[in-house]
Amino acid sequence: MSEKVEPPLAVLFVCLGNICRSPMAEGVFRKAALDAGLECRVDSVGTAGYHIGESPDPRAITTARNHGVDISELKGRQLAPSDFEEFTHIFALDTANLAGIRSRVPRGAESQIALLLDSVPGREGQTVADPYYGDEEDFERVWRDISVAVEHVIEQLKAEMPD
Ligand code: 4NP
Repeated sequence: MSEKVEPPLAVLFVCLGNICRSPMAEGVFRKAALDAGLECRVDSVGTAGYHIGESPDPRAITTARNHGVDISELKGRQLAPSDFEEFTHIFALDTANLAGIRSRVPRGAESQIALLLDSVPGREGQTVADPYYGDEEDFERVWRDISVAVEHVIEQLKAEMPD
C-alpha cells in the first residue's frame, strides 16, 4: 500500500515583531478554524528578535479581547529554520516580511509561503499595515484585514484537505 499521506495542517503567521499583527492573526485563525471544524496547528513568529519572550502589545490584546479572543498568553518568538519543517503554510503579514521569510528558506523546505492578503480577491499584493506606531483605530483596521483574509484562508485549506 502506498497511499499518499497528507501532512497535518500547520499554519504560521509572520510579522516583524510578533507582538501586534501576527499574534492577532494567530488568535483570529485559531477561533475561525475551531468554528469551521478544521483541525490545524497555528502559531506566530516575528522575523526580528526584538520582542522574544514578550506578551503581545497591550493594544493587540485589547483589540482581540473586544472581539472575544484571548491572546494574552502568547509569547513572542523569532522565525527559526525548524519552522519551515513544522509548518505546511506560512503567511506573511506584509511584503517586507514575505521577503524576509523567503530569504531564509532552508534547502529542501516544502512549506507554502504566501502574503496573507493575496488570499483576498482584489487585495493581492497588499500589506496589513504595521500598527505599532499607530492608535487603537489602526489595531482595529488590522483586525478587520486579518479577519477577512482568514475567512478566505480557511476556505482554501478546507478545499486542499482530502475528503
Ligand atoms: P508587528 O509590529 O510586526 O505587527 O509585531 C511591530 C512590533 C514592534 C516593532 C515593529 C513592529 N518594533 O520596531 O519594535
